[in-house]
Amino acid sequence: MKTRQARKRDLAGVKAIFELAFTEEYQQREVNIVQRIDKMRSLYPLLKVLSLFPNPYQHVFTVHVAEEDRQIAGMAQVSPRNSQQSRWHIDNIAIHPDFRGRGLAQQLLNDVFMFYNQRGAQRFTLEVDTRNQAAIKLYEKLGFRRYSTLFYYKLPPRQLGTFAKPEELVIPKGLRLRQAKDTEAVWSLYQQAIPPYIRLVEDRQAADFAVGPLQQGAEWLKKRLKRSESMHWVIEDSQRQCLVASLDLYAQLHSLPHVIQMTVHPAYGDLADPLLRFALHQAAEVSINPVLIGAYECQRAKLDACKAAGFKKLTADFLMVKDSLEHLVLPAAQEVQMLNSMRFDI
Ligand SMILES: CC(C)(COP(=O)(O)OP(=O)(O)OC[C@H]1O[C@@H](n2cnc3c(N)ncnc32)[C@H](O)[C@@H]1OP(=O)(O)O)[C@@H](O)C(=O)NCCC(=O)NCCS
Repeated sequence: MKTRQARKRDLAGVKAIFELAFTEEYQQREVNIVQRIDKMRSLYPLLKVLSLFPNPYQHVFTVHVAEEDRQIAGMAQVSPRNSQQSRWHIDNIAIHPDFRGRGLAQQLLNDVFMFYNQRGAQRFTLEVDTRNQAAIKLYEKLGFRRYSTLFYYKLPPRQLGTFAKPEELVIPKGLRLRQAKDTEAVWSLYQQAIPPYIRLVEDRQAADFAVGPLQQGAEWLKKRLKRSESMHWVIEDSQRQCLVASLDLYAQLHSLPHVIQMTVHPAYGDLADPLLRFALHQAAEVSINPVLIGAYECQRAKLDACKAAGFKKLTADFLMVKDSLEHLVLPAAQEVQMLNSMRFDI
C-alpha cells in the first residue's frame, strides 16, 4: 500500500469512497457531497493554484489517498485550524469497504501525521460521532484522547419560517455590526467564554479572530454572485467597555443550510436566547432553509437557547486530540465536569 497527496485523476475514487462512507452523514446536514466533489473536479485547476500559497482557500482540497493495486482504497482530508498551522484537523477519513480491517487507515493517518509534523504541525484534532465505535478505537490506538463533546443541532425550514414575522424581531441591547477594530476584543471574549482546557487544544491566537481583507473579499463576491450572505455582529457592554457576545451568520441563498456561530460570555448567558432569535430572524429574511449550529457541552446557555428555539439534535461528537509533542495535559473527566459547571462572574 502506498500513500500520497491526491491528484485530479484520483477524484473519481475519492468520490466513490465518500459516497459509501459519508452520504448519510452529509444528508443529515443537507449537503450533497457528490455534487460538491463534482464541483471540485471542475474547479481543480483553480484549487491547485490556490493550494500553492497562503490564502483562505489554500486547503479547500487537502486530501491524501491510500493506493492499493492501482486502486484508491482510502482517503483522508485534512485542514489547518489556526493561522500558525500548528493544529491540523482530520475532516474525513474513510477506507473502501473492500479494504477495511487491513491496517490501511492506521497507515494512512500515520503518514499524514508525519507529512504535517515535518511542516510544523504540533497537534491533530478530529470530531467523531460518539456512536462510531470502529473509528473511536482507531483514533485511540493512534494516540488520540477525548477532550470534549460537541453537539450539532438543526432547525427545520418550517420552524425557521416562524421567525420571519416582523413582530419576532427583538434587537438585543448593545448589538451592533462587527468592525475591523473589534478583533482584539473578540479574542478577549473567546478567552473568557471558552474554558482553558478547550483553548489549550484549539491553540488559537488573536489573528485567528480577524475578518481579513481576503475573507471580506470572498464574502462580498459570494453576495454579488447571489450565493450566500455573511453577517457579523457583536454585543458590547458599554459600561464595562467589553464585548460580551459575538454572532456570525453564514446565510445561504440557495438550498444549503444556514450556519450560525455564536459565542456568549458565561456571565451574560441570558443573552443567548434573544441573540439566537435575532440571528434566526435575519436568516429567515434571506431564505427559508435549514439552520445548523454547534455547541460545546460547557456552553449551557447556548444549548438551552437552541432547544428553546426548536432546534433538534443531529449528532453528539467527541472532540479528540493527538499532540505530537506529548506535552498537552488534559484535565481528568471529573475536572472537566467541574469546569463545565463553574459559574462565571466578572
Ligand atoms: C473507521 C475506518 C476508517 C477504519 O479503517 P480500517 O482500514 O478498516 O482500519 P484499520 O484496519 O487501520 O484498523 C486500525 C485499528 O482501528 C480499530 N478498528 C478498525 N475497524 C474497527 C472495527 N470495525 N471495530 C472495532 N475496531 C476497529 C482497531 O483498533 C484496529 O486495530 P486492530 O486491527 O489491531 O484491532 C473504516 O471503518 C471506515 O472507513 N469507516 C467509515 C467511515 C468512518 O466512519 N470514518 C470515520 C469518521 S470520523
